[in-house]
Amino acid sequence: MELLHYSKLVHFIGIGIIFTSLLGGLILHAQYRKAPDYSSKLIILKAVRPIGLLSPVAVVVLLLSGIGNMEIMAYGLFTTAWLSTKIVLFIIAAVGGIIFGVKARKRGKLVAQIAEGNAPEGAETTLASMDNQQRFFYIVQTALILTILALSIVKPGQYGSLN
Ligand code: HEM
Repeated sequence: MELLHYSKLVHFIGIGIIFTSLLGGLILHAQYRKAPDYSSKLIILKAVRPIGLLSPVAVVVLLLSGIGNMEIMAYGLFTTAWLSTKIVLFIIAAVGGIIFGVKARKRGKLVAQIAEGNAPEGAETTLASMDNQQRFFYIVQTALILTILALSIVKPGQYGSLN
């Protein structure tokens, strides 16, 4: 195997990790919404936490192997439009992941307070809006990651009109 093969191998492992985190989060979030009471919700949120923590691992693996691919293939930031677009979308997804990771932690604390019966006034309304925000995050994040994947496969503009 050549160096590029190793770099792409690591890149593909990163892709696997990011989809595990995304899909696991989506499935458990659906279970969370269906859970009958707050202590069940709390247990599900505890299970979703390590799955969510996989995403920063994926970001590091993808970024390092992506930079490795670029170095080996002598791509600059502006060599191809698809790669520039992909990197911008990747940064948006990573920043969104950090923001909503913090929000998810706050939501977990609120669910714990409600489950223990010492939540402040109006906690359930706040929680409902936090839940909607998280759902919105999953939809946007899925769209972003699928767009990045499609860009990486189609590489629009790279091969001219023959492809
Ligand atoms: C969610 C994030 C990402 C996904 C899903 C993704 C997906 C892919 C896929 C499927 C390929 C294989 C293309 C092929 O061999 O034909 C690829 C290659 C590549 N990726 Fe990524 N990638 C991601 C993040 C990144 C980042 C952050 C960078 C740059 C810093 C990057 C740079 C590259 C480069 C330079 C290649 C080689 C392109 C080529 O073979 O022409 N990727 N990526």
